[in-house]
Amino acid sequence: MSGVIVVGSQWGDEGKGKVVDALGAQSELVVRYQGGANAGHTLIVDGKKTVLHLIPSGVLHPNTKCLIGPGVVLDIESVHAEIQSLKESGHLADPSKLLISDQCTVLMPYHRLLDKAREEAAGSNKIGTTGKGIGPAYEDRASRKAILFGDLFFPNTLKDKVAKSLEEKNRLFSNYNLPHVDVDETVAQLSKLSELLKPYRCKDTSLVIDEAFRKNQNVLFEGAQGSLLDLLHGTYPFVTSSSTIAGSACVGAGAGPGHIQQVLGITKAYTTRVGSGPFPTELDCEIGKRMRDIGQEYGATTGRERRCGWLDLVALKYAIRVNGITRLALMKIDVLSGLDTLKVCTAYEVNGERVTELPVMHDELKIARPIYEDVPGWKEDLTKMTDLEDLPETCKSYVQLIEDFLQTKASVISVGPGREQTIWTESLFDK
Ligand code: IMP
Repeated sequence: MSGVIVVGSQWGDEGKGKVVDALGAQSELVVRYQGGANAGHTLIVDGKKTVLHLIPSGVLHPNTKCLIGPGVVLDIESVHAEIQSLKESGHLADPSKLLISDQCTVLMPYHRLLDKAREEAAGSNKIGTTGKGIGPAYEDRASRKAILFGDLFFPNTLKDKVAKSLEEKNRLFSNYNLPHVDVDETVAQLSKLSELLKPYRCKDTSLVIDEAFRKNQNVLFEGAQGSLLDLLHGTYPFVTSSSTIAGSACVGAGAGPGHIQQVLGITKAYTTRVGSGPFPTELDCEIGKRMRDIGQEYGATTGRERRCGWLDLVALKYAIRVNGITRLALMKIDVLSGLDTLKVCTAYEVNGERVTELPVMHDELKIARPIYEDVPGWKEDLTKMTDLEDLPETCKSYVQLIEDFLQTKASVISVGPGREQTIWTESLFDK
């Protein structure tokens, strides 16, 4: 067994990319299994910033293979632009290091149009999507109208499939007073990009994963978004359109759960959220603004300001449960330096009652009020610390409180955005 799933434990943007990059050095294979270009994974190596949306965050390691699995909605313009940009900065010289599954759903330009049209029409009820077309693309997959990546290489049948997929959509575009999308133009666009992406085509990615497991290689599954944005288990309806929890890694990649050795839950030392929806510990005050400024809490995909708040242990406890998280990575703890007192949410009050589990229905969660415990802060700059023992006592107590409450050990403590600003308390892979 040598599979590790890296999963977001909050509302996304926890720092999964940084952890996957750091673990990538020990992994033969890194697999993206859900979501699409709504994700923005930021890596900082030797001071150079790389933002990835679709390509797995292992790509900066020349010996690591990166695989985009069937559960991903593949924006082919976006992935092509990412490949070009990586090549320009000296990465991905060998095309065999990136494998794109034939079974991926192709995210079409009209999915983006539909996503934006719906959000505009929803007014104040909008979800606050990234506008990347994710919902409409997954809808096409569920309604059996999707174009798969492999379809792009069968030109004789592609046009009919696009026509079928567009039939209903053009009626929707009429409803939104938008022009119809032309089938021939769409096919021409697809054909141009499919030629450029052909070197990365992989007919059956699950075979590649299976082979890696048979050779006892380390396989890292890289989640996108966070558990509370999961379509079934998140804060519905303010969620994304894929399953973001750890179980989705097996489904979206085509790998058996028996291979999974650890589920690493990535969490910030505080909480953030982008887009609409309930957020019980949100701080609409100076401290929230301070977290945003110091933590640079702006969306890597849309540039939107992230909402910031105290650490919510009730929501994290839920994430531990629905994912089966076995270890934690505690990110951005350096951002909290300089505060006299920190607050952590350990329960909610809902309709005058104390509750200790996350309410799963929106109508309850939206009225949940956080109940906090105060904990002493620390003043020291943590960004150059390399050992757990270097951390100030109050910071160590903060980590301990989180571990004790969640009954889960932190294997990683991150003290800055750089690859080297990472404290490992143990190794995650056996070898
Ligand atoms: P969609 O995934 O673009 O449909 O957006 C649905 C919700 O998920 C919105 O609230 C987005 O802000 C949120 N979301 C989607 N992707 C991410 C992400 O990578 N990080 C944080 N939030 C995200």
